[in-house]
Parts: sequence; C-alpha cells; structure tokens
Amino acid sequence: MYITDHPVLKKDDRKVIQFYFNNEPLNAKAGQTIAAALMGNGIKKVGVSRKLQKSRGLFCARGRCYSCFVTVDGLDHVLSCSTIVEEGMEVYSNLSDSDVRRGENEH
Ligand code: FES
Repeated sequence: MYITDHPVLKKDDRKVIQFYFNNEPLNAKAGQTIAAALMGNGIKKVGVSRKLQKSRGLFCARGRCYSCFVTVDGLDHVLSCSTIVEEGMEVYSNLSDSDVRRGENEH
C-alpha cells in the first residue's frame, strides 16, 4: 500500500528491509517507523486494549497516546509510531497486558 508514482513526490529509492510481525516476514522501507511499515503492509491493528480487548492501532502518530505499543525483540510497550523499524526486527502485537501474558506463559 505504498505510493509508487506521484507527480509531486520524488521516486522512493530507499532500501527495502525485512522485519517480522507476529512471525510473518514483511518488507519495509529503511527509515520508516514500525507503524508506517505495518500500515504499508495493510496492517492497522497492533493489539487490543487491556480491559475491553478492543482493537488498538495508530491514533496520534506522535508518541502521546500510547495506543500503538507493541513488543519489539522481547521489549514490551514500544511505541510503534516513534520507533524506526530495523532489519530482522521481531515485532509482536500486544494482545493483552504484558504481566497477564507473562503469567499465562508461566503455567
Ligand atoms: S499512535 Fe499515539 S503513541 Fe503511537
């Protein structure tokens, strides 16, 4: 879902890198945020809310609302709108509170 031909924008010749979202390999442009890379791949849902389990995604896109946090390379609560995607990065959606998730894994 990228703009490839536009009369005003210059040709996008950024390097294409690969990262993983929920173990699925995806492509991104070097220098993109994780959220932009996910949106570029048609992914808008990055997790669910803690109590009501409602879909969460990009909202403010500037690091203020905490609606977009994901788990990156094992680190919870990373803001996907403010973090640059890197080659081989492993990103996971946040499907519950991280403490609850850890508790589920310990049983
Ligand atoms: S979208 Fe608001 S903090 Fe990322």
